[in-house]
Amino acid sequence: MCGVIGYTGKQPAADVLLDGLTRLEYRGYDSAGVATVFNGDLHLKKGVGKLEEVERDCCISRLPGTTGIGHVRWATHGGVTVTNAHPHLDCLKFIAIAHNGIIYNYQQLRRKLSAKHEMVSETDTEVVAHLIEEYMLPGVPLEQAVARAVKEIQGTYALVVASTVEPQTIVATRKGSPLVVGIGKGENFVSSDFQAFLPHTRKVLFLDDEEMAVITPGKVNIHSAYGKKVFRGSVTLDIELAVREKNGFDFFMLKEIFDQPQAIISATKQEKEALQKAANLVNSSRSVVFTACGSSRYASLIGRYMFSKIAHRFSDVIISSEFGYFGDAVDEQTLVIALSQSGETADVIQGIKEAQSRGAKVLSIVNTIGSTLARMSDCTLYLNCGAEFAVAATKSFLSELVVLYLLSFSVAGRLEEAETELVKISALLDENLRLNNDAVPKAANMLSKYDKFYYIARGINFAVAGEASLKLKEVAYVHSEGMSAGELKHGTLALVENGTPVIAIAPCDGTRDDILSNVSEVKARGAYIIGVSDKPDKLFDMYIEIPRVNEYFYPLVSIVPLQLFAFHSAIARSLDPDRPRNLAKSVTVT
Ligand code: F6R
Repeated sequence: MCGVIGYTGKQPAADVLLDGLTRLEYRGYDSAGVATVFNGDLHLKKGVGKLEEVERDCCISRLPGTTGIGHVRWATHGGVTVTNAHPHLDCLKFIAIAHNGIIYNYQQLRRKLSAKHEMVSETDTEVVAHLIEEYMLPGVPLEQAVARAVKEIQGTYALVVASTVEPQTIVATRKGSPLVVGIGKGENFVSSDFQAFLPHTRKVLFLDDEEMAVITPGKVNIHSAYGKKVFRGSVTLDIELAVREKNGFDFFMLKEIFDQPQAIISATKQEKEALQKAANLVNSSRSVVFTACGSSRYASLIGRYMFSKIAHRFSDVIISSEFGYFGDAVDEQTLVIALSQSGETADVIQGIKEAQSRGAKVLSIVNTIGSTLARMSDCTLYLNCGAEFAVAATKSFLSELVVLYLLSFSVAGRLEEAETELVKISALLDENLRLNNDAVPKAANMLSKYDKFYYIARGINFAVAGEASLKLKEVAYVHSEGMSAGELKHGTLALVENGTPVIAIAPCDGTRDDILSNVSEVKARGAYIIGVSDKPDKLFDMYIEIPRVNEYFYPLVSIVPLQLFAFHSAIARSLDPDRPRNLAKSVTVT
């Protein structure tokens, strides 16, 4: 993953870069660093930990100069150490690079360079600094040395390079990882995400794969992989800066859980034309395949169910990282629906490329305007839920469900029914959140001594069990499994012993009787039952109440108290639910 940024202009580079990195931290937060060019030298500060810790320990903001590059890291190659943190330098310390992606042939390159170059880190990235050094002969411009170096790289990269040889130039190039250039007045920017420089400019140029931008304070030149000049007009983004405000909550995750009644309303406000175009794409396709990862995949599973129930369309869900192995039947008659909060998840983008190479059409459902996925798609529906800062998806998951409900009902020509129901649910959820704000923390505290949980459900609620379990794993570091209740007796039941917590999602829909019968089976083996329902039952040892809604809409109301449960389980274990270990918000490596 990782986030990169570069700046050249008239402002102190360290301030611009540091501020930009705060908005890239969702891409990685295990270490960070900045290198600036000043008075013929590179000045470098980097450290381990979250950005605020690195700044506290290393004082990045004191770096001199008006040109520089920065990086936030999510380790792929090499442990989380200061040496492995970016930027990385060449032997002579006149080239600095920051990288997002993976260099697959780095070991081979390392072997080739090791006779002449001393590598200090364990990263795949450092070889690129030494490779550029190899080509940086007297009189060779930096851009040419970088161009020659990247020709030898196999893998994915968004690279930003600074050098004392051209003290006011940033060279940036990409393949498979996003990069966007920001055009200012007498200053220019480049980053993995335009949010990093949005306070300075909204005028941007998106780079395509294998393109290179040569950026000075007064000019941006773009070349193709073959050195040909690329003429591309800039676009002015009509996008608000994502404001990192917790609105009185201690954590973003809790704020975002409480944002959800409003998120339902915002997601319901779809542009009618786009929704109609999306429905037409579904109706004119022979087959529909959803693809996504993590929480977005659980949303897709609910979409599949809704497509069957409401739109009477059979569809399938393929995990994006499996798409290449499994998408053989995809052709020009296929519609691939890709769901992604970030629109930058590398697995999803790779899956989509594969589908497009087979002629499929792509409808994407994304939150981030201007994201790679949105730009690649034939049609995009937006979540409209605002920036989500906590690593765990909450309001984006719910918003994805809302868009899927709208789409399924649109395909069936019944859009208004869904809109009416969603408005009602928003109000019910608001009330329910206040009710559960007391009850759920108590439940999480009471159950905080347990280290394994099972979530069971049936039908449309099955994916809610998976999503709720994922939330508990990622923020509370508790092993859990979300499963179809009917599958219990086929193996997992062997794990249930006296006191094992089993969370049963048992609303008053068509699944209720069957799920209660599975609850009896686990209870008979000593399980402690937490019932999530709109109707109590004597089988429940603990009851988490949800509102009564139309039977297809229960996922919207049953996931919310379970998000709260995961959040409070993290708090009960003294963990930071906003930035769980080993994870990042946007997964930009495959
Ligand atoms: C879980 C979570 C992840 C993401 C997954 C896909 O809470 O946030 O599982 O859902 O990495 O991310 P997007 O939706 O950005 O493609």
